[in-house]
Amino acid sequence: MLKDIYQPNPEFAKDATIKSMDEYNELVKKATDDYEGFWADYANEKIDWFKPFDTVLDESNAPFVKWFDGGQLNVAHQCIDRHIETRKNKAAIIFEGDRGDKQVITYLDLYYNVNKFANLLKEDFGVKKGDRVVIYMPMIPEAAYAMLACARIGAIHSIVFGGFSSEALRDRIEDAEAKVVITADGAYRKTKPYMLKPVVDAALTGDTPVKKVLVVERNNEEVTWVAGRDYSYNELIKSKSGKCDAEPMESEDPLFLLYTSGSTGKPKGVQHNTAGYILWAQMTMEWVFDVKENDTYWCTADVGWITGHTYIVYGPLAMGATTVMFEGVITFPDAGRPWKMVEEHKINQFYTAPTAIRVLHKMGEDEPAKYDLSSLKVLGTVGEPIDPPAWKWYYEEVGQSKCAIVDTYWQTETGGHVVSPLPGATPIKPACATLPLPGIIAEILDPETGEKVGEGESGYMCITRPWPSQIRGVWGDEERYKKSYFGDVKKDGKPVYFTGDGAVYGGDGYITITGRTDDVINVSGHRMGTAEVEAAIKKHDNVAEVAVVGKPHSLKGEGIFAYVVLKSDEGVADEIEEVKAINNIIKKEIGNIALCDDMIFAPGLPKTRSGKIMRRILRSIAKGEAITQDISTLEDPSIVAKIEAMANCSTC
Ligand code: WTA
Repeated sequence: MLKDIYQPNPEFAKDATIKSMDEYNELVKKATDDYEGFWADYANEKIDWFKPFDTVLDESNAPFVKWFDGGQLNVAHQCIDRHIETRKNKAAIIFEGDRGDKQVITYLDLYYNVNKFANLLKEDFGVKKGDRVVIYMPMIPEAAYAMLACARIGAIHSIVFGGFSSEALRDRIEDAEAKVVITADGAYRKTKPYMLKPVVDAALTGDTPVKKVLVVERNNEEVTWVAGRDYSYNELIKSKSGKCDAEPMESEDPLFLLYTSGSTGKPKGVQHNTAGYILWAQMTMEWVFDVKENDTYWCTADVGWITGHTYIVYGPLAMGATTVMFEGVITFPDAGRPWKMVEEHKINQFYTAPTAIRVLHKMGEDEPAKYDLSSLKVLGTVGEPIDPPAWKWYYEEVGQSKCAIVDTYWQTETGGHVVSPLPGATPIKPACATLPLPGIIAEILDPETGEKVGEGESGYMCITRPWPSQIRGVWGDEERYKKSYFGDVKKDGKPVYFTGDGAVYGGDGYITITGRTDDVINVSGHRMGTAEVEAAIKKHDNVAEVAVVGKPHSLKGEGIFAYVVLKSDEGVADEIEEVKAINNIIKKEIGNIALCDDMIFAPGLPKTRSGKIMRRILRSIAKGEAITQDISTLEDPSIVAKIEAMANCSTC
């Protein structure tokens, strides 16, 4: 039996899209009894097809699958044009700038802005269907226009988070062979201008596939213009026509790439295609956030991450909702900023990450009480397991014990939510993602036998049937797609999708995600491959070896702990300088998000006789746990005590 359960608010449930567990169970049954029929019905109901699809699901080349083959549609049409008749004057995007400046963009405004942008890309930059366009932008409406303009003409966008360095940007540009970069001069953070364009300039030095750069002038700070390559959006857009036909796209034409960390040093270009992705983005908006026609919805993510793609831009706009975009920092000028925004915009659904909740709690425990938060109906969380104290504060102080908390579990690769409560139906439990959404066959499996584990047992979080918004491939690397996602677990002898996460059944099929089982750590809700950080650190001339592990961190969820072995025998002349130098390399190679929280200069690493680094030991040391595993088989068992002593000292 489940303990510590919160029932849905009956007032809310009355009007919810899915009103009860009976309704939920009915949908689950429908999907189980006739999987393809379930999806075909929704695809027909939700998508404004240019041409109907012939088949629902084609698994003949699994794990490469096709959904809704033969159909044609356009995502920009789905997100904008089809709303013009009924919602032309409704706010599509409400933008709040860092310094409190506000802008309301109606669906009709969005239509013209996106069409002009699309014409600019086509006419001035020669962008065609299938071309890759890298977007390196701050959180301003033009980022959404850029995405939708690409979708409108069939170009494949690849957004690179604005916190990534020039080297990280260069890698992503080269991997995708992008011919255009869309960026901004910069934007504002804590009222001060910061710059992006110089990072793009640095990323494009030497050989580059990029021919043209479009610069949105946001903060009007001075930037360098390379003649024949760099163009001002603000200038070019003036002469563009507001009419641009939406390109008919096949269901399985790629919509975007988004690079994410895996267990090797090279990020993967996760590919999402057109129909399946937009269908699930829209359906989960309707089910999980239960957004009504007059609601205002705010997701605090950045468009550089999958949450920003699906739940700031594509999902809300596909359903015709009003989505808030925020340029600023949620703790600035104080930790009451988001609650002030909730009050002012009368936000109905608020979606953020546990790391933000922890920071807002710590910095402004009493801030929510200062504002009128009565408009809130649904509170969401995503990105990492949320701890019960943060959950309780969110529920009681922000949600005033009347809002559902939807702890949405999903990933870049799943495109949209896969395990999540439904706010009008699912009894919720603190820090528990609860149940698979209808249509998603998510199961916790025993990695050895491929059998579903029992209640109270843990195993690997898998999705055992293809679903419409699933990753379609790793850009340019078919093998890596198969190996990364379909290589670890087999059910009934067939490879199934493994998320990389561990999970446990907590009673009545409720799923709690316990975290990654691979070498990916979750820093402030951002996925970071330890191998990527290691590859950066190894670029330091004096580094012989390095191992990076995650360490629990009270605000960030996990912090980065690096064990560095230097080449020179004399040890480190100046530790502080050496740490600085290494962090500078990380900053250059990846960006500030990957800076190390702890670093020790170890005399060696614990290795087996065959040379394999025993990361489990390093993880235990980082956590300050006693070493329980057998170390006698190590090449040099004495190294463990030495590192332990250093780690204890570094944290004392
Ligand atoms: C973790 C973010 C626990 C998980 C949408 C997953 C979560 C990774 C939750 C994906 C949650 C996401 N509870 N863990 N509700 N949501 N995760 O690709 O480890 O940036 O694999 O996508 O975040 O991170 P990504």
